[in-house]
Parts: sequence; C-alpha cells; structure tokens
Amino acid sequence: KEAQPELKEYKILRWAAQHFFTTLNQPSSKQALLYFEKRGIRHDTITSFGLGYASETWTGLLEGAKRQGFSETDLLNVGLISKSQKGGYFDTFRGRIMFPIFSNAEKIVGFAGRILNEDEKSAKYINSPETQVYQKSKLLYGLNFSRDAIRRSGEAFLVEGYMDFISLFQAGVHNVVATSGTALTHEHVSLISRYAKKISFLYDADDAGQNAMLRGIKIILPHELIPSVITLPNKHDPDSFIKEIGKDEFLKYVSFYKMSFLDFILNRLKKMGSFDIPEQIAIGIKEIVEVILLIPDFITQELFLKQLSEKTGISHSSIETEVQRQKNRHK
Ligand code: UTP
Ligand code: MN
Ligand code: MN
Ligand code: MN
Ligand code: MN
Repeated sequence: KEAQPELKEYKILRWAAQHFFTTLNQPSSKQALLYFEKRGIRHDTITSFGLGYASETWTGLLEGAKRQGFSETDLLNVGLISKSQKGGYFDTFRGRIMFPIFSNAEKIVGFAGRILNEDEKSAKYINSPETQVYQKSKLLYGLNFSRDAIRRSGEAFLVEGYMDFISLFQAGVHNVVATSGTALTHEHVSLISRYAKKISFLYDADDAGQNAMLRGIKIILPHELIPSVITLPNKHDPDSFIKEIGKDEFLKYVSFYKMSFLDFILNRLKKMGSFDIPEQIAIGIKEIVEVILLIPDFITQELFLKQLSEKTGISHSSIETEVQRQKNRHK
C-alpha cells in the first residue's frame, strides 16, 4: 500500500499552531504569557501541549499564511479565517489563548481559543468549526497524551474543559481526558473503552456540571460500563481544586468521595429536596429505575435494582412492578 500524501488541512493546522506558539513569545504578547503565569501553567507545559496566542490583529494569521503559499480557501476550509459581510476575510481567533486539538494519530485537527478577559462580551471559548478532520463528537481532548496512563491505571477521569485537563496533567494526574466543546457522546465512550473500563466523572461542582454528569451517565451505561462520579467542593472545578490542595490531597479526595452512579443520583435527588415528600420520592425512584434499565447486562441490572431497594426502603416487589411497567411502556 502506497503512503497517502498528507492532507493539506493538516499542513495548514500544523503551521497555524506553530504561528500561535511563536506569537506567544513575541514582546507584544506579554499579556498572554502573563495570563498563563496567572493560571499557573508552566513553560514546559506550554511547550508540551503546543499552547499559543492569537494576536488581536484582524489578519495576522491570514497574512502569514499567504506568505507560506496557503490560500484563503485553504484557511476557510479549516475555519482559521472567516468571511466578513462585506466579503473580506479576517482571522477567526483574535486575542485568544490557543489550544491545539490533537487527533489520536497526533495530528492537529483544530483549535480552541480562550479570551484573556472574562468581562468581555464574546464567548469565553470558541472552537474550530466541524471539518473533515475535526469532529467534536468523536474526539477527546488530550487522549493522545493520556492514553498510555489511562491504559496503565485502568481508569479515565473525564473532565469538562481544556484547563482542567492541562492542570491535572501538569500536576501529575495523567489518566484524564476532556470533551472538546461538546457533550459526551457514544463515540467518545467507545473510544475511552478501548483503553479503560472505568470512567470517573470529574466535572465542575456547579449545576451545569452536575446536570452534565447525569446526562453522561445515561450515555455510558448502555456500553456495559459502570461510571463513577466525584463531586468536587462548591465552586470548584478540577483545575481550581488541584491548584488549591495539590496532587496528593486531590487524589485522596477523589478516592474518598468517588461514588457509584446510583449513589450520585440518589444524593442529587436528596440535595434537591426531592426526597422530602412521597409523591416526589416516587418520581425520583422511577427516574432511577429508568437509568438502571439502560444497563444491558441483566445480572448487573438486578444488583443495582436491589441496591436501590435497600437504599430507599422501597420493597423489591414495588421496584420490580415499576420495572415491568417501564418495560411494557417501551414495547
Ligand atoms: P467552563 O465554563 O467550565 O470553563 O468550560 P471555566 O472553568 O469557567 O474556565 P477555564 O477553562 O478554567 O478558563 C468548560 C469547557 O466547556 C467548553 C470548553 O470546552 C471549556 O473547556 N466551553 C465553555 C465552550 O465550548 N464555550 C464556552 O464559551 C465555555
Ligand atoms: Mn463548567
Ligand atoms: Mn464557567
Ligand atoms: Mn470549569
Ligand atoms: Mn476552570
């Protein structure tokens, strides 16, 4: 089989990553370097992950790319430039910290860009658009760096964001992956399960994070994997938390507070006050039964249904009746 010539998309994206990396070390990018410093990102980490900076100018990347012989069409195809209403072109990423996104085959397939100033009106992060080479639903940020550690440890910590991934990795927690500007998909889960059978959610402590973990649990269970959940202390995400308490305390916290998906959902309902009155308890239990029925293996299913009965004091026969009701409904 003859070697295929490299896709032009990859060449442009690699060149762009180099451009953003070089830009970061120019004197005019001082504020970007200071930002990394403020976030506790070390120089060796910047280099390992190829982090960079997109300057505030409107066509800095466009002009540089043209000098390299890339065309506007080439750049448009990978979303590095956008077309203005008047028909001109301008850089998509401006005044942003840049995170190159690597495929499992170590190719740069897109970028995420973060603003330096939270009070700006624009979105905190923007991502490259979906292209032939960058499909968010199939790609996990950082997996190219972490897959060996994930395989070795048998467990993958799933985090929400780029900074969470980088911060944990830098601190020495290497078995971690992040979704890239999208919710967890079945393709993501299949990908992780090639390396580890244990997936542990480490999402933000805020409501958005807690809700996303519940959605994620429902994506994972049909894959014959039983996810665990770690809820971080109020206001924290993995990045802020590991910076506050350090790697060793972080790992202690994680192993102490790691709970099964079932305990996570039960706790969540209790916290929301849904276990105070009977009619709400009933709704909660029906929801949990629905989640447990996503488990393909009948024995595992039964074990969790038993746990549900023990933990809530609802008789096994009532739960079994609810199971039958739901199964008939889905027929
Ligand atoms: P968060 O909103 O939790 O980021 O987004 P944060 O923790 O406040 O800010 P940083 O990252 O520590 O600076 C988590 C992830 O959600 C996606 C990105 O993938 C991000 O890493 N996201 C967030 C977007 O795609 N767009 C946004 O505007 C915000
Ligand atoms: Mn978040
Ligand atoms: Mn946030
Ligand atoms: Mn966060
Ligand atoms: Mn954060």
